[in-house]
Amino acid sequence: MTVQIIRTIKELRLAIAAYRADNAKTTVGYVPTMGYLHEGHASLLRQSKSENSVTILSIFVNPLQFGPQEDLDKYPRDEQRDTSIAEQAGVDIVFMPSVQEMYPSSMLTNISVAEVTAGLCGFSRPGHFDGVATVIAKLFNIIRPDRAYFGLKDAQQVAVVTQMVHDLNIPVEIVPCPIVREVDGLALSSRNVYLQEQERQQALILNQSLMQVSSYIQAGLTTEQLIDKLKESIGQKPLANIDYVEIVAYPSMTMIDPKQILKGQNSSILVAVAVKFGKTRLIDNVLVNFSEAGE
Ligand code: PAF
Repeated sequence: MTVQIIRTIKELRLAIAAYRADNAKTTVGYVPTMGYLHEGHASLLRQSKSENSVTILSIFVNPLQFGPQEDLDKYPRDEQRDTSIAEQAGVDIVFMPSVQEMYPSSMLTNISVAEVTAGLCGFSRPGHFDGVATVIAKLFNIIRPDRAYFGLKDAQQVAVVTQMVHDLNIPVEIVPCPIVREVDGLALSSRNVYLQEQERQQALILNQSLMQVSSYIQAGLTTEQLIDKLKESIGQKPLANIDYVEIVAYPSMTMIDPKQILKGQNSSILVAVAVKFGKTRLIDNVLVNFSEAGE
């Protein structure tokens, strides 16, 4: 069956209702995106396909989550290419609403998740996670998926959405999925297309630095020492302009001394970086689990 392209909420609800009416055991897997799909998105789609009877992909560049100085207008878009990737992945429905369809009048409701948004991108991009939480709550209400798939490159986003779903009793299982990288280690991102050749080459330092984290933790470095090491390593690249290097417990996003993980007080820590290369801001991270840290 070819993929159905749907642009209105009404039509989407009817199509999903038809699937559910047809088979009471239908499970709906959902992958929310802003389009310009890459292999990371395709891996989410494949996982949804393998775990659900129906897979829905949404493509919507959500204005609410962009700050005034950010790249909303130039965010890369390619409907045709996205549609063919969706088709190849076996997606059943692609939902591509317009801004007018999603926000027909000015939004008087805002969903704001506290604490987990205090640091990292929540601090660097004020309002960003309110925009994400608000649009995802709307999309969950429109689609009512059984499972929703999110990439861990945006680990803080996964924590925000998981907290929101928990707090608001939204009946959906959030499925975090591993980061997908190019063969040379660069984490896949729609924004990689902005990188000049030299910037892209130097951006490899992000993954290279993060790969050292486990051994630094095993060597007993404190949070501060680990952050300094990472900043020093990333800072060797002249085009790298560090926004943040942070270490937090995951998924609570609270501050932590990595030594504590060795004492078994936390199961996971997130070591996350945001770095600008030229005009392009990249994020990357590594999740270190208690067992990996050498205990
Ligand atoms: O990660 C993204 O692409 C976006 O933040 C999301 C989850 C689709 C919400 O607009």
